[in-house]
Amino acid sequence: MSATLLSVSLLAAATVVRADYFSKDPLVNKVVPFNAIPYQVMTDRDDPRGFQSGYNICNSTTENQNSLCQTMFVNHMDDFCLWAPAPPNSSIADTEGDVVAWCSKKGHGSRIFPAGAITGLQMIQTPSYIQIAGTIKQELLNIVGEFGGELDSGGQDGEGNPMGGLVYSNAFKSNNGNNATYQQAQHWSFFIGANSFCGKICDQTGSNPQGLCQNIYDRLGCQYNAPNNAAAGVFEKCDGDDMIPVGTYIVNGVTSVYHQPAQETIPLGVIPYTPTPAPSSNCVTYTSAALFADGAAITGAPQGGSATTTGASAGATTKGAATSKGAAGAASGSKTGSAPGPSGSSGAAGAWGVSVGALVFAAAAVFAQA
Ligand SMILES: *[C@@H]1O[C@H](CO)[C@@H](O)[C@H](O)[C@H]1NC(C)=O
Ligand SMILES: *[C@@H]1O[C@H](CO)[C@@H](O)[C@H](O)[C@H]1NC(C)=O
Ligand SMILES: *[C@@H]1O[C@H](CO)[C@@H](O)[C@H](O)[C@H]1NC(C)=O
Repeated sequence: MSATLLSVSLLAAATVVRADYFSKDPLVNKVVPFNAIPYQVMTDRDDPRGFQSGYNICNSTTENQNSLCQTMFVNHMDDFCLWAPAPPNSSIADTEGDVVAWCSKKGHGSRIFPAGAITGLQMIQTPSYIQIAGTIKQELLNIVGEFGGELDSGGQDGEGNPMGGLVYSNAFKSNNGNNATYQQAQHWSFFIGANSFCGKICDQTGSNPQGLCQNIYDRLGCQYNAPNNAAAGVFEKCDGDDMIPVGTYIVNGVTSVYHQPAQETIPLGVIPYTPTPAPSSNCVTYTSAALFADGAAITGAPQGGSATTTGASAGATTKGAATSKGAAGAASGSKTGSAPGPSGSSGAAGAWGVSVGALVFAAAAVFAQA
């Protein structure tokens, strides 16, 4: 029997020049109970990168395909969200600070995944986090190009990407199956691009939320940050063990920690380990029709309504450098697009002429399994 597995392994490449500004009030430190969400969680008005472009109070008024909701959820197989651009035809690099919530289920005040947007999904529930990974038809989520990016609760200035993004779940193990109560995830990271995605949200009461949802390995992509067995056309939910913290590896009983070179101008070189997904069990498969019913009537091209474009461009102008980012992305992509492994991105390192944000190279490697 042979099956074709799409390994969701985004290769990511980070910033060339990190902003030297760091927030005095970083997102990751903000404890925001679900019943006390403010209109905008970002408070820092001095950030040279700009200010939060959407909002965190999301309700029936904001639930439409032009929503700028920046509060998202990872709950169940039929109830999760991704961060994706507000305007159509956007690269993650150009919009990372302003991405908005797109969700499978109504009731979150967000955009809804259009029919056919999610083409594969693996959700792993561990004692300390929930991991999702899968494949997408990315144009239905306003994403263009073969580049993706990391969206996380850190960001170059501590404000997160998106700036002011909030993440909640009603499904952490510690919540004991009570769908009616939501816990905030302070540490989270997602990668999206190249028609695939992955993400982890960590339970703040679980083991090592910062280490398990690290956001400092943005050049390494899904294979390292969220090891998974997602496959196009498969929708499955599994239980799993916690992975060992991102970057940590064990050879001959000796534990070591790998640190990614921070600057894009420094090649990644050889990464001293290859991660394998942590053990998983109790996998249950679903049909996509059972999971994405709420978006079944939403078809075709993304909405380009004026609310979307206005909001998004207002956010984008504060960041600048959009044109150089696009150009650098294209140049690097052509050099690295064929490499299935993270070391491939090192070849293009010198070509990144970017000054803002996490510009990321993404590739999905297809393996034939005998
Ligand atoms: C709905 O959300 C919008 C956007 O955050 C907010 O301005 C409005 O006050 C909310 N409405 C209610 C009734 O909470
Ligand atoms: C996206 O951009 C391409 C090339 O610039 C263009 O041909 C296409 O019409 C755009 N699509 C949308 C939905 O804006
Ligand atoms: C919680 O919601 C999920 C679907 O989103 C459902 O499968 C599950 O049964 C619910 N749990 C309870 C205890 O109602």
